[in-house]
Amino acid sequence: MLRIEGVSKSYGKGSRRAVDDLTLHVGPGEIFGFLGPNGAGKTTTIKMIVGLLTADSGRVLVDGCDIAKEAVWAKSRMGYVPDNPDLFDRLTGVEYLNFMGDVYGVQAAARAERIDSLLDMFELKGAVRDLVASYSHGMRQKLALTGALLSHPKLLVLDEPMVGLDPKSSHLFKEMMNRHCEEGGTVFFSTHILEVAEKLCHRVGIIDHGKLIARGTLDDLKRQARAVNAAGGGSERKTLEELFLELTEGEN
Ligand SMILES: Nc1ncnc2c1ncn2[C@@H]1O[C@H](COP(=O)(O)OP(=O)(O)OP(=O)(O)O)[C@@H](O)[C@H]1O
Ligand SMILES: [Mg+2]
Repeated sequence: MLRIEGVSKSYGKGSRRAVDDLTLHVGPGEIFGFLGPNGAGKTTTIKMIVGLLTADSGRVLVDGCDIAKEAVWAKSRMGYVPDNPDLFDRLTGVEYLNFMGDVYGVQAAARAERIDSLLDMFELKGAVRDLVASYSHGMRQKLALTGALLSHPKLLVLDEPMVGLDPKSSHLFKEMMNRHCEEGGTVFFSTHILEVAEKLCHRVGIIDHGKLIARGTLDDLKRQARAVNAAGGGSERKTLEELFLELTEGEN
């Protein structure tokens, strides 16, 4: 569903690569967690997946389609929630959702039903006629996700979706991600919350200084951590946090 093939990106001539020869495949029905320290290259990768940044080299395929060559078709297959949902402040919530519905070509009848059930789920119904400018961070996050889900995208790309969400909303987000995958969809998301990644993700990848330093299931990561750390004793019981710290140790 998502294929990142040998992708690299620098922000300026001669500057260090923010993403360095990254290769990663994520299949249908899979929740993939993208982890890494601050400045590791997660957002840069995500912006290349959704076509906001162009890769210097390599390619990104969404549902078999090259985002650089057939951007509109590839974008029509995915929903994206950025790390900082800067929505249109002067629109009301419902105007924003209708705008998203128009952009993604969601039919009117299906749209009304979908908007209604998503707003219900995220408890946004009471605020939907208010200007987005008056929304809190968490409300913006939920409105952005509602907009991203309207068209039933095959691939959901979320950059730190749990930041600023209250416990109930965060629970709803996780449920929604699970449901999306049960229906055959794919979720690719970045997070610093390792407990969430541990519980939710089928596989995770760890990026550091632009390079993918580990990927796989939690068991795969345990094996990789043992290989990195020869001592390795007792790693069967290690949490993802301990593995993350071990694998990124000495890289900073
Ligand atoms: N617009 C930009 N101009 C120049 N350098 C940038 C820009 N955006 C990111 N970088 C650099 O690229 C590298 C990767 O940044 P990126 O935002 O992808 O990291 P991240 O993994 O998302 O970090 P965080 O966990 O803090 O969100 C960093 O060294 C950062 O300084
Ligand atoms: Mg980031």
